[in-house]
Amino acid sequence: MKIGVLGAGLMSDALATRWVEAGHEVLIAGRTPERAALLAERIGAGARHGTPREAAGFGDVVLVAIRHEGVLSTLRDAGAAEGAFQGKTIIDCNNPVEVEDFTLVTPAGTSLAERIQDLATGSNVVKAFNLCQARVWEMRPPAFDGRPLAVPFAGDDAGSAALARTLIADLGCVPVRIGPLHRARHLEAMAAVVIGLLFGGADPYTVFNLITPAAA
Ligand SMILES: NC(=O)c1ccc[n+]([C@@H]2O[C@H](COP(=O)([O-])OP(=O)(O)OC[C@H]3O[C@@H](n4cnc5c(N)ncnc54)[C@H](OP(=O)(O)O)[C@@H]3O)[C@@H](O)[C@H]2O)c1
Repeated sequence: MKIGVLGAGLMSDALATRWVEAGHEVLIAGRTPERAALLAERIGAGARHGTPREAAGFGDVVLVAIRHEGVLSTLRDAGAAEGAFQGKTIIDCNNPVEVEDFTLVTPAGTSLAERIQDLATGSNVVKAFNLCQARVWEMRPPAFDGRPLAVPFAGDDAGSAALARTLIADLGCVPVRIGPLHRARHLEAMAAVVIGLLFGGADPYTVFNLITPAAA
């Protein structure tokens, strides 16, 4: 699979590295082009860097892994309102959570995932990977007591859900579709709780053990 990656930080590093190891190709773009270039270089064969528009056009899937303040503006810059993501599956791992009171910054009754869906004309958004810290996604594989991590995701489109299942399974995890995209509101709210625990010093490897393969 070809995967565009918007963002060149911790989450892009963890997920893109593991997807390339699984045989996928990535094109990474970030606000700071040098950081995207360094990340692509570090990942090596299977990774390259480019502009946000190039990342949007690169493949069937685009991971968006940007600080929440910059998500919508980055997508706009990448041409979201002009159809640059038409037919693409957007994987949204972002948490719109402020880290003083650990509350959501999205308007009531919606989610960042749904706002991305509204903005990126013709795309299909899937919310996934937002509940565990980057260090967990770096595990090979993310498993605890020998049992694989279950990864809940939400999305409306069956084809995009199938792609998300593949990308979750390629990490050695168990995909669990929890419902349509509006359920991203609950994943984002869960993340607000998790982030509060992590900032309080909880162990990222045990704070939120979704070790329920039977639920897949
Ligand atoms: N880190 C985690 O453990 C974790 C886990 C689950 C979900 N998430 C979510 O995943 C997303 C990415 O997290 P991360 O830890 O990878 O973040 P990060 O390391 O801080 O960097 C992510 C990217 O966001 C860019 N960025 C920051 N502010 C921006 C702005 N205002 N406009 C445009 N681009 C901006 C950065 O560009 P520069 O290089 O120029 O700063 C970088 O390319 C966040 O939404 C976060 O909530 C993070």
